[in-house]
Amino acid sequence: MAGARGLGLLLALLPVVSAPMPGTVVRLNKAALSYVSEIGKGPLQRALHVAVPYFLDRSGEVLQPIRIQIVNVHLPQFDLKFIADFGIRLSAAANFTFKIFRVPEPLELTLPVELLADARVAQSSIETPVISIPYCLPLLGYSSDFDDSNSTSRALLALVQEHIRAVLSNKLCLGVASLVQEFNAHLGTLIGLNPVGPESQIRYTMINEPTVTSDYISFDITAVLFLLGKPIILPRDPPPFALPEHVHDEDTTATVGLSQDLLDSALLLLQKAGALNLDITGQLRSDDNPLNTSELGQLIPEVAHQFPEPMPVVIKVRLRATPVATLHPNNATLRLQPFVEVLAVTSNSAFNSLFTLDVVVDLSLQLSVSRAKLQGTTSVLGDIQLAVSYSNVGFIDMGQVRALMGSVFEKPLLNQLNALLGIGISLPNVVNLLYVDPEVFVYEGYVVVSSELFYLH
Ligand SMILES: *[C@@H]1O[C@H](CO)[C@@H](O)[C@H](O)[C@H]1NC(C)=O
Ligand SMILES: *[C@@H]1O[C@H](CO)[C@@H](O)[C@H](O)[C@H]1NC(C)=O
Ligand SMILES: *[C@@H]1O[C@H](CO)[C@@H](O)[C@H](O)[C@H]1NC(C)=O
Ligand SMILES: *[C@@H]1O[C@H](CO)[C@@H](O)[C@H](O)[C@H]1NC(C)=O
Repeated sequence: MAGARGLGLLLALLPVVSAPMPGTVVRLNKAALSYVSEIGKGPLQRALHVAVPYFLDRSGEVLQPIRIQIVNVHLPQFDLKFIADFGIRLSAAANFTFKIFRVPEPLELTLPVELLADARVAQSSIETPVISIPYCLPLLGYSSDFDDSNSTSRALLALVQEHIRAVLSNKLCLGVASLVQEFNAHLGTLIGLNPVGPESQIRYTMINEPTVTSDYISFDITAVLFLLGKPIILPRDPPPFALPEHVHDEDTTATVGLSQDLLDSALLLLQKAGALNLDITGQLRSDDNPLNTSELGQLIPEVAHQFPEPMPVVIKVRLRATPVATLHPNNATLRLQPFVEVLAVTSNSAFNSLFTLDVVVDLSLQLSVSRAKLQGTTSVLGDIQLAVSYSNVGFIDMGQVRALMGSVFEKPLLNQLNALLGIGISLPNVVNLLYVDPEVFVYEGYVVVSSELFYLH
């Protein structure tokens, strides 16, 4: 409850975003159900461990309360399966062992129980998945261990058994419902904000009802990136994203489709945050920026003329356009178009603009997933394109300057870019759930992460 209130509050504090947002699709396959039934056995067993009220023995002269306790719930079978267009069917079979504290000595009684329930998964008012149990039926068997030959006590035990059966048929489904409530609170953590860099976050919300087939359940989840609390809105309306059927891989637990728009949003965020704007400041005799006016003067005569004494050079790198990611089958590329200004520091510490360059850098982008984050690393593809856009130092022979300039800003820019892409964007997730052995596949216009899941419990 406290968790649900906390989430409500969190949601109230977030800016309202009405524009259509970049899509992701999370598909949980049959393997996810096997995993849930495997790790859910313990919690279900505990949820079925209900309290049984005293049985009142009215056979004697005085009313005799008899204490009854569940000593064990043995749950060898717990299965979940998808029911197309509906939800998930749960079936479980258990043996309950009770201790009946009758006089003179306590007795054990075992009752077989089958449990059938249907779970419906829907979209909650706070845009998280929410599970309800519209149908739940405990099928109670009869105990076979009536070896007590005393007919009086046998009659008593028959009554005790009826009492237990009445209690279980009421309470078992309540136990299941409370387990589902806990699970729902957990699913609610989907909408938590996750940092993607300094002062920026991502938040996922579920945008419509999930789709259920006999093989998977699929959630349409939208991602919103925030910079300083403001949503990053793409200049165009992203079309709705659907994960094509063919990428469905029955063997993996989860298949997560990430649209091109999500990458575009992340890149727009990088640009808006100015995260790729660099000032490479030169000092004389430094390794960081080996450029100085005497070095440049050897290639550009006018620089040597204006600066007879060697002066440090400052290089300002600014993005003049949002980086563009392109997703081809099996490869992803990234194009950066920085604007580079080269300035000399004059003797009175003023900056003298020497020239500016329009640059195009094509990079190959390798995507990977680590700790539930999509990360990238880049390397330069082909030659960096440089063109002089403005010059205060007359004619510049690019053929001469290219190698020098490229080497001066290329490395810091790529280091910075790779550091940012290395932080990565959180994938849709809930607390304590890990992506295990994830594989990333690049398709035309979208990326698929195929992964096992592991729940820390
Ligand atoms: C319950 O116990 C009976 C008797 O030991 C056994 O035959 C049956 O298979 C058990 N059922 C479950 C679900 O464990
Ligand atoms: C049968 O059991 C009841 C209570 O468990 C006891 O009071 C009674 O004496 C027993 N009768 C016989 C014949 O053992
Ligand atoms: C200028 O740059 C060149 C090349 O990096 C270097 O060899 C030279 O020492 C520098 N001059 C000064 C004064 O820093
Ligand atoms: C990526 O794929 C596209 C289309 O298949 C192809 O034109 C391009 O050369 C590929 N790039 C790399 C770096 O493999």
